[in-house]
Amino acid sequence: MDLGLRQRTAVVLGASRGLGRAIAAALAAEGANVLLCARSEEALAGVAAELDGLGSGRIGHHAVDLSRPGAPAGIQAAAQEQLGPVDILVNNGGGPPPGPIAETERATWQEQFDSMAAPLFELGGLVVPGMRERGWGRILTVVSSGVIQPIPNLGLSNALRSSVVGWSKTLAGEVAGDGITVNCIAPGRVATDRTAELDRKAAERQGISVAEVERNSRALIPAGRYGEPAEFGDTAAFLVSARASYITGSVIRVDGGLIKSI
Ligand SMILES: NC(=O)c1ccc[n+]([C@@H]2O[C@H](COP(=O)([O-])OP(=O)(O)OC[C@H]3O[C@@H](n4cnc5c(N)ncnc54)[C@H](OP(=O)(O)O)[C@@H]3O)[C@@H](O)[C@H]2O)c1
Repeated sequence: MDLGLRQRTAVVLGASRGLGRAIAAALAAEGANVLLCARSEEALAGVAAELDGLGSGRIGHHAVDLSRPGAPAGIQAAAQEQLGPVDILVNNGGGPPPGPIAETERATWQEQFDSMAAPLFELGGLVVPGMRERGWGRILTVVSSGVIQPIPNLGLSNALRSSVVGWSKTLAGEVAGDGITVNCIAPGRVATDRTAELDRKAAERQGISVAEVERNSRALIPAGRYGEPAEFGDTAAFLVSARASYITGSVIRVDGGLIKSI
């Protein structure tokens, strides 16, 4: 199946490792031009070198801290300068720290909102006019299984990502008639640095080994294993492709069956 991504220009946030890197790799392999964004210039340059030549498109990168004012405008300008107008926006970034929600202070809520939600809303608003003019666009936001089945001890993630889902669904309705789809993709447990770090913290908290935490996690996943970043990246590439033109306003699960509800 040709996904129709050749010569489309994609911005992928959080692309220096993990899920973002896997999405960028899948898009690059399909011939899209890809702008990789994250904070570490060095890590981005390494990923850019790996992805260069994977497909027929060009690879650019832009070091940016999403929590800084002006970051969204800087991303749009970097895409325009290096690759052209943005056809595809993949919103992604770092996850918040774990901890009991009742003990989370207002300053932490604000800080995480400014990093995990506000810049995505702003960047979405910046790219929509161009997508509307060209009559084609894709906005896909990485959230979490926690937006459907809240994850204990990850209250910041559950709450703030649910606001992102509300934004995504509202925007989807506003732009569906312009050839633009807006969706969320919800990972369950995909094996990345972030998952390993959360497992390490859970092991410390529970006084058990990391291997035991992983075993307990796998027992909750009907597939019996953590997901691979590449299988997540491939699903994301389909969702932003020409082929997925009638999927909008959805939250698509990539969780090996982890979420218990229908
Ligand atoms: N993996 C899973 O199974 C899973 C499950 C549920 C939810 N999620 C969520 O999905 C997202 C991606 O997951 P992941 O496992 O790939 O996480 P990860 O390994 O921690 O990668 C996060 C990416 O975001 C970038 N980033 C972090 N903070 C940033 C900032 N302030 N500005 C710009 N870029 C920033 C990081 O690069 P730099 O550090 O260089 O900036 C990195 O490229 C996370 O929000 C995670 O919480 C993941």
